Amino acid sequence: MDFLHLCKERFSARKYTAEQVSQQDLEYIKEAVRMAPSAVNKQPYKFVIVQSEEERGRLQQCYDRDWFKSAPLYIIGYKSDEASWVRQYDRKPHADIDVAIATEHLCLAATAQGLGTCWVCNFDTGKLRELFPLAGYEAAVIVTIGHIASDCPHPEKKRKSMEDLFETI
Ligand SMILES: Cc1cc2nc3c(=O)[nH]c(=O)nc-3n(C[C@H](O)[C@H](O)[C@H](O)COP(=O)(O)O)c2cc1C
Repeated sequence: MDFLHLCKERFSARKYTAEQVSQQDLEYIKEAVRMAPSAVNKQPYKFVIVQSEEERGRLQQCYDRDWFKSAPLYIIGYKSDEASWVRQYDRKPHADIDVAIATEHLCLAATAQGLGTCWVCNFDTGKLRELFPLAGYEAAVIVTIGHIASDCPHPEKKRKSMEDLFETI
């Protein structure tokens, strides 16, 4: 798929069918995540794939939305500020940027496989820490993945204009 077309195809899918994500598709997505760039190549992140019925049920407690429950698969993206590159001038850790890049690789790879995804950052952080702790890491994002339901809402993309976004100097 042409890259710009892929970018336009990806949208926040908030309703899925019950069909499972195939292992082949999952491996493709994982490899795309693995290839993501990160500051000084530190890769200060980990991804937990939440697939079993039991673990999916537990994760659903962290983001109480009906549509969220329809996803057959979730991936929790964790980041570690300690493991990340820190810019010497202002001590800024780059883990948030790094995990975001890898997460969008995930979403675009899933789109390329004909799957839907949605970023979720508005989860209950305390609950997630309690139910899905990962030593040294903090959950940054949950991504839902699945086959998009035929009646999934698909609003028109609204974006700022080129003029608002870019300036040439
Ligand atoms: C960092 C980030 C956090 C987001 N968190 C949520 C969320 O908690 N719940 C949700 O339904 N959508 C969430 N979204 C999806 C955005 O609402 C969505 O990407 C945006 O409205 C643009 O729509 P599109 O993805 O369909 O192009 C998030 C997206 C990003 C990039």
